[in-house]
Amino acid sequence: MGNTNDIKENLNVKSISNSTAPVGVFDSGVGGLTVAREIMRQLPHENIVYFGDTARVPYGSKSRDNIIRFSRQIVRFLGTKDVKAIVIACNTASALALETVQDETDIPVIGVIVPGARAAVQATENGIIGVAGTEATIQSETYTKVIRQMNPDAVVIGKPCPLFVPLVEEGFAKHRITEEVIDIYLSDMQKTDIDTMILGCTHYPLLRSGIRAYFGEKVHIVNPAYETAMDLKKILAKNGTENRSGQPAAYEFYVSDAAEKFTRFANGILTYDVAATRLVNIEEY
Ligand code: DGL
Repeated sequence: MGNTNDIKENLNVKSISNSTAPVGVFDSGVGGLTVAREIMRQLPHENIVYFGDTARVPYGSKSRDNIIRFSRQIVRFLGTKDVKAIVIACNTASALALETVQDETDIPVIGVIVPGARAAVQATENGIIGVAGTEATIQSETYTKVIRQMNPDAVVIGKPCPLFVPLVEEGFAKHRITEEVIDIYLSDMQKTDIDTMILGCTHYPLLRSGIRAYFGEKVHIVNPAYETAMDLKKILAKNGTENRSGQPAAYEFYVSDAAEKFTRFANGILTYDVAATRLVNIEEY
């Protein structure tokens, strides 16, 4: 029996040629701000509409069916904002829902996995690559499949690190508890010959210094956000939809719950001052 999620839908997101239209960026919560931050840095003229699904985070422990359902709802919501492209900042949604929503919209939709995998394949010298991510991302083996398409001889060692997400959200990124959790999750990987490690979850770049210290200089650390922003730039240029208005970029932030907590977190990691975050009932989409 086919799954209802495998039946193609039309998400009603029509192609937009207006270059001042915003880029939609979404994540399961606050973590995708690490990707938004990189887009703001590399594409300073692009307007952004960000949606964080704070009512339903974490996605990393959810089923494929729900991750696809949530992603479709968010894409429909972003469609109402007339976005010209969508970046799925969430690794879990990129791993499980990207192809589905790409098929169901008329605008470019990119995820973080292909850019992250490409950066790792370019960086590795011995072809042994570690991936840390959520349970759902690692179980999907999407990073492994994409890396092997780029380098069939690559060896990919994946490790789910679910506690990293709440540690970051609780402000424990630099706490000694986090050092211990890094050791618990990554000690097996440290004993392997990986020379490259993908931070395959939106929150992990905020633990970068701890992970870098744990592995030392011999392991190249890849943050997919950097390469994702570069890909977005190339796609907008190719489609002739880069914002050339010369106006300062405008950013809008939406969440499905706890807007004030989101605003505080956002102001902790963005250089942009987020004045307000708006609530959306995402189940309506
Ligand atoms: N944003 C998710 C990711 O990048 C991490 C948080 C979650 O589990 O939802 O995979």
